[in-house]
Amino acid sequence: MTLQERITELQTRVKEMKASNLSEVEELRIKYLSKKGEVSELFNEFRTLSKEDKAVFGQAMNQLRQTAEARLNELKEVVGQAVSKAEVREDLTRTPDPIAIGTRHPLSLVREQIIDIFSRIGFTVAEGPEVEDDKHVFGLLNFAPEHPARDMQDTFFVEKEEGVQQPTDVLLRTHTSSVQTRVMTEAAERLRTGEQQSIRVLCPGRVYRNEAISARAHCFFHQVEGLYIARNVSFADLRQALLYFAKEMFGENTQIRLRPSYFPFTEPSAEMDISCHICGGKGCGFCKNTGWVEILGCGMVDPNVLEACGIDSKEFSGYAFGMGVERIANLKYRVKDLRLFSENDVRFLNQFVAC
Ligand code: PHE
Repeated sequence: MTLQERITELQTRVKEMKASNLSEVEELRIKYLSKKGEVSELFNEFRTLSKEDKAVFGQAMNQLRQTAEARLNELKEVVGQAVSKAEVREDLTRTPDPIAIGTRHPLSLVREQIIDIFSRIGFTVAEGPEVEDDKHVFGLLNFAPEHPARDMQDTFFVEKEEGVQQPTDVLLRTHTSSVQTRVMTEAAERLRTGEQQSIRVLCPGRVYRNEAISARAHCFFHQVEGLYIARNVSFADLRQALLYFAKEMFGENTQIRLRPSYFPFTEPSAEMDISCHICGGKGCGFCKNTGWVEILGCGMVDPNVLEACGIDSKEFSGYAFGMGVERIANLKYRVKDLRLFSENDVRFLNQFVAC
């Protein structure tokens, strides 16, 4: 092999050097660049050449050494990175396995399940503020200004100025029907022009009522209310949607019963019971031997409400319903004391898994 051939051959080899860790890189350095390395040996020979030959091969020789050095540096960097990744994987300061992950709150689980069931029949979620005004919580919902029905839902009023108790129309919402009035007023114009054909929303959220805290009542709780407005909506549509919900939530054999009731914003109004899913309707302690348990309020949206929100009650009709998430959670999980839901005791919370 001529010197030129040897340079070329070595050049190819150093260009393609491979290593998977730092000690292999060091081995390669020794093999080629140490005093007795192949590249260095070639330089020893080079030094013995005549002036003319040195001029011919000098450049190729220098390039050979540079290529070898550059490739070794490159390899060092690549395997060096691999090493630091491996170190991260073995970080001894890391939290040990298994990492304790939290659980979903039972009320979130139930709320999500309610939303999921209704979303399958076209409902979408609408949200609104918890600190509301009188208009959206009562005024637009057919509560007359001095109507005793306002007392039905013991309201927390918000002081306008700190310490100054004056008549105020700012309050904590007592139901999420306030979101429905917002959705209706906002959609009214589009319904009128035909740009929108219907409203079909669920309004989940926290609500507040001035009640003494006990195992059965709290000053705040959670609701999911629903509203459907379109042309020719009937009570039969309401019943069918609720029957579907009850079966999805509590099982295929669940039956429903609608009892006449009163709400200012619906006419007719009803309360819905489901057949007690614990005793199957035979009668037990849970349903007080009636075979039925109440789960929600509902009715056909009162034409006065539609008109107040700017919707033509001769064109449109609708139904609404509202349920307490805690109530449904109680039925599903048989939690006897409502206070457990807000105490954040992990021994309680850890027991719930998504259904
Ligand atoms: N807003 C009522 C409540 O909070 C529930 C309800 C909603 C009843 C819609 C009828 C129709 O008690």
